[in-house]
Amino acid sequence: MYNTTIKLNGTVSLRGDKSISHRLLMIASLINDKSIIKNLSTGSDVLTTMQCLQKCNIHIEQNQDTVIIGGTLKSPKSTLDCKNSGTTARMMIGLLAGQKISSSFKGDASLMKRPMKRIIAPLTAMSINIKHNNNMLPISINAKHVIPINCKQSTKSAQVKSSLMLASLGSNQYSSIAHNKNTRDHTEKILEYLKFDILIQNKIKIRKSKIEKGFSLSVPGDISNASFIIGACLIIPGSHIIITNVLYNKTRLGFINALLKMGANIKIIKKEQGHNLERLCDIKVKYTPKLKAININGDEIITMIDEIPILSIIATQATGQTVLRDAAELRNKESDRLSLIYNNLASMGANIKERSDGLIIDGNKKLYNTTIKHQDDHRIAMSFEVLNLLINNKMDQSYREIIKISFPEFYDIIEGLIQ
Ligand code: S3P
Repeated sequence: MYNTTIKLNGTVSLRGDKSISHRLLMIASLINDKSIIKNLSTGSDVLTTMQCLQKCNIHIEQNQDTVIIGGTLKSPKSTLDCKNSGTTARMMIGLLAGQKISSSFKGDASLMKRPMKRIIAPLTAMSINIKHNNNMLPISINAKHVIPINCKQSTKSAQVKSSLMLASLGSNQYSSIAHNKNTRDHTEKILEYLKFDILIQNKIKIRKSKIEKGFSLSVPGDISNASFIIGACLIIPGSHIIITNVLYNKTRLGFINALLKMGANIKIIKKEQGHNLERLCDIKVKYTPKLKAININGDEIITMIDEIPILSIIATQATGQTVLRDAAELRNKESDRLSLIYNNLASMGANIKERSDGLIIDGNKKLYNTTIKHQDDHRIAMSFEVLNLLINNKMDQSYREIIKISFPEFYDIIEGLIQ
């Protein structure tokens, strides 16, 4: 359908997973000893977490791909700027509340509009004093005393679950946090691995813990960043790539599982990582001309929450109608992602419908070039760059600053694979 003159070929490895990078930095700040983190994400969201921690008296040294972190958390002298990072804001608020550190938080225009009630309500129930702007940032916290929480309704957000776990470290008594098993489980896994007092069952039980010894860990390659390269490879004729040392965790595999159901030519080779924190895998991907449409709904959405934009792009190249439901949470991300995917694809000529909680996308319709509306959302920008590559044989290359939020290597890696 397109006059594609390029293909992607080669083997790449990726910098560390963004979610795990945020968590290792924050959890290291709870340990007085020095910790070493290798292959940290280079995304500016993670840099934002580092800067916030540094303002709270944490020492961070960076040498090539190794970070050494240590020190004791103290009240910052000025407001912590979480910039574009929801994970920084929601998790740092829980972290500092748990350590009874008074602090205030702000963010960029996008983050200042994102919902914070989801953490404000439960943290308030833990007796943490929170001032907020109509349940949004700016927020300031004052936690003199933290009482445990018994959270009965399971949260579908890993950020909320993590914020509550970190805040629960402020009490000698166990908190009990109901959680949806499909939400990413990195925080509880890291805390358990480092021997914090945590029990992970149907509910997570967690309380104050004193950990004396620092850790040394390497962050597995970012599976969410891998999704853009996988997507490009699947839809560009003749492509064949291998991505090595990527995170293999079932709470993050929704995108790959969906692609396999669509008939994608993907092979996963699982590996052990020498410690029992997270596993790694190599992913082999080949161009797949006959992708089938798919229905995705319910908890499946949780395990691919950040991959819906690139999945929607892939759906435009599949045969049949893809129906995404139960995805209203996408409207609360860095942008209203459902609306941007709909508007951009519609203006490119796609047969697409927008529903309050999802999208209906007809595949195999020829799409045309357009100016992309991205509202500075990194995942929207990368998704449409992948489509650009298919339609125009080149990317726009003008979103470098936006894409830096999560995947600064995006353009260079794709350029390096083009043949
Ligand atoms: C994240 C959790 C998800 C995801 C975000 C990163 C995390 O958000 O969309 O990009 O690191 O915990 P929610 O927990 O709000 O679903």
